[in-house]
Amino acid sequence: MDQAKQIQEIRDFSYQKMSKDKTGHNFDHIERVVKMAKRILKEEHTDPLITIGAAYLHDVADDKLVDDPAKLEREIREFLKSIELSDEQIDEILYITHNLGFSKSLSENPPKLSLAGQVVQDSDRLDAIGAIGITRAVYYGGVYHETIYDPEISPRENMSIAEYRDLSDETIINHFYEKLFKLEGMMNTPTAKRIAKDRHNFMVEFIDEFKAEWDSKR
Ligand code: ADP
Ligand code: NI
Repeated sequence: MDQAKQIQEIRDFSYQKMSKDKTGHNFDHIERVVKMAKRILKEEHTDPLITIGAAYLHDVADDKLVDDPAKLEREIREFLKSIELSDEQIDEILYITHNLGFSKSLSENPPKLSLAGQVVQDSDRLDAIGAIGITRAVYYGGVYHETIYDPEISPRENMSIAEYRDLSDETIINHFYEKLFKLEGMMNTPTAKRIAKDRHNFMVEFIDEFKAEWDSKR
């Protein structure tokens, strides 16, 4: 099967798996991540099938979206085999999708990613910042009934993975300090660093305005 057809098949598989998610990991997120990965690929030269394939599949077996991620990883493996990817290609894609999440980077030994993995990780992270990032954080906070803002609750420092997933004391505004403001400094590729800068500054301005309005200062 030629590569264009393989990518089309992976897209359809991802669409089928992702289109029902209601937490901000909807298929529009996936399509933006793929688009960004293609943009970064113009400057970072690495395998397009692995990169774009992993971008389409990166959230399909996410442990907070599905009950049994291992089962979905097996399903992805079977599917990729059926469209004639080699075991090596499949291992590479699954390693990326398994290890690129923000929560993984909170562990003591953050996994090392290949250049293809770094491109997908950057693309996923870029979609969590800027105007889109603000919208996704508000949307996610709404789905999980987070408080919007509480000046009495300080942002958490050095969170463990379990703390990151514990939303009981979480506020949407604290999520910016706990994660979103950190992402600019975590980008891997020069292209992503450049794009992240403007998106980061836009979020800083947004939070500044938010707090001024909260205090009736503007
Ligand atoms: P990753 O896929 O890297 O693990 P997440 O799945 O945790 O990232 O996040 C998905 C989206 O939801 C991101 O845009 C993220 O900023 C947002 N999000 C995650 N946790 C929270 C939270 N506690 N409050 C508001 N938004 C959140
Ligand atoms: Ni994602």
